[in-house]
Amino acid sequence: LFAAVEMAPRDPILGLNEQFNADPNPAKVNLGVGVYTDENGKLPLLACVKAAEAQLNEAARARGYLPIDGIAAYDKAVQGLVFGESSPLLAAGRVATVQALGGTGGLKVGADFLKKLNPGAKVLISDPSWENHRALFTNAGFTVETYPYYDADKKGVNFDAMLACLNAAAAGTVVVLHACCHNPTGYDITAAQWEQVIAAVKSRNLVAFLDMAYQGFGDGIAEDGAVIGQFVAAGIDFFVSTSFSKSFSLYGERVGALSVVCASKEETTRVLSQLKIVIRTNYSNPPTHGAQVVATVLTTPALRAQWEEELAGMRNRIKAMRTALVERLKQAGVTSDVSFITTQRGMFSYSGLSKPQMERLRSEFGVYGVDSGRICVAALNEKNIGYVTESIAKVM
Ligand code: LMR
Repeated sequence: LFAAVEMAPRDPILGLNEQFNADPNPAKVNLGVGVYTDENGKLPLLACVKAAEAQLNEAARARGYLPIDGIAAYDKAVQGLVFGESSPLLAAGRVATVQALGGTGGLKVGADFLKKLNPGAKVLISDPSWENHRALFTNAGFTVETYPYYDADKKGVNFDAMLACLNAAAAGTVVVLHACCHNPTGYDITAAQWEQVIAAVKSRNLVAFLDMAYQGFGDGIAEDGAVIGQFVAAGIDFFVSTSFSKSFSLYGERVGALSVVCASKEETTRVLSQLKIVIRTNYSNPPTHGAQVVATVLTTPALRAQWEEELAGMRNRIKAMRTALVERLKQAGVTSDVSFITTQRGMFSYSGLSKPQMERLRSEFGVYGVDSGRICVAALNEKNIGYVTESIAKVM
């Protein structure tokens, strides 16, 4: 039966974990996957999560099936966070939100729904983008192409080329956009540039699909989510996938959501009914624990405040590591200008290192980053940064 099955390639990001775990090098450092570790190199269990879990444990709930679209209080909390508690859009019932298996799950539910809605549409992702965007939309049956994004010479965004591409896209094209903390480059566009993107989406009748996996890791929750308000103000219907993997350090709980902004309450009801069919036929209904934790934190004022503080702590530590990375690279003898590292946002730095350099970092030094040159700054700390920067300097 399986004689003709081909060996699939390792996942470009999660596959690195397997390689890292098998590496006997005692000095190894994992800067591959986008996971935040604290100053001691430990994956944090946030205090707000611990408190919410204690509260939930006291109530000792039985575990029935959740509704197909998830916990109602969770979906409502997600809407408040993404669109703003007092958004008129929410009051008008114009957003269909479903609990999803992480941000990836939100993307996949949206992709499957879009495929049914407009089977001939193309999908455009940024060049480069999160490795799984292409794979996910391709597996959902779409032809995936790219719009220009990264400008290697400028160390930033080639915005003119991006806009020109969107302005030439066919009606109905699905455009996957990173709401904040662009993965992998760390370069975001400005609010004024977003206005131009939104104008292109509107005039060309494109379908915007915002991936917001890092809200709170750039400049703050409201700041990072500001683009959502810009889309809403433009009166566009669009998709947003949300993830709490990073912002709650709940990676393994797979807590995310998909929100679809619709033209009316009645339309929202119909869209929700279709999203529920996608979920039911894929995994029936979502799991309970992670979403209950997130809903508890987001709806309990003291826990919410604690979460925002803890999130700010992670954000600020990453920023401090960016500054330290620049300084330590210089100390290690790197003479080229690496100050771009501090202008990038979010968990990652697009280092500009080539695939052979990244391979050498892995094989010779046990320093794991993605082949594209992406390294996870959120996994650096005072203990490993010296070794990492010396290793990078040696391959440069
Ligand atoms: C990443 O880009 O490393 C994260 O989003 C984790 C993942 O699922 O790839």
